[in-house]
Amino acid sequence: MVAHLLENNRHWAAARLEADPDFFARLARQQRPRYLWIGCSDSRVPANQIVGLDPGEVFVHRNVANQAPPQDANYLSVLQFAVEVLQVRDIIVTGHYGCGGVIASVDGERHGLIDHWLHPIRRIAEERREELAAIADPGARQNRLCELNVVRQVENVASDVFVQDAWARDQALCVHGWIYSLHTGLITDLQVSVSGRDDFDRVFAS
Ligand code: CO
Repeated sequence: MVAHLLENNRHWAAARLEADPDFFARLARQQRPRYLWIGCSDSRVPANQIVGLDPGEVFVHRNVANQAPPQDANYLSVLQFAVEVLQVRDIIVTGHYGCGGVIASVDGERHGLIDHWLHPIRRIAEERREELAAIADPGARQNRLCELNVVRQVENVASDVFVQDAWARDQALCVHGWIYSLHTGLITDLQVSVSGRDDFDRVFAS
């Protein structure tokens, strides 16, 4: 059932080599991506493809509903390596509208282990109950929660000690919050970019 994937791979590698004979040799020597991408595991939101980046150009961490939980060793390991070793210049948290994880967090059903993973999103929905309740259309309400979730994860990343320490030693590093539309293929910048401690206070004061 997966044999065609291996065949695809052979074609892909051959095509890459034809276009750029040094491509794999160069990448094998060193990876120096400029970006860290924190996105959803959803198969429809592949990091490299939707922003037109080649292998080697973006360090990627994906999980259900693009979470950046301050106690998650997997995410923290990625963050520390990206900031301190790779020294990425931009960290981009990218959510997407219609996110199944976000929707499942507030649908009142029990899903199992994932309910614990999604607990932080349920908390956001509680905190912003009034704002969300004022949105009549259920789809629009879910999409607003998708946006709020991205903003909260940007706050998590930007307040993390790895990032705060990078800013303290004047390392250039900016954290962004984006959201992707499955319907149009387009990304919207949620305008919560933070590139330092002052920025953080300005964006997240309230
Ligand atoms: Co999703």
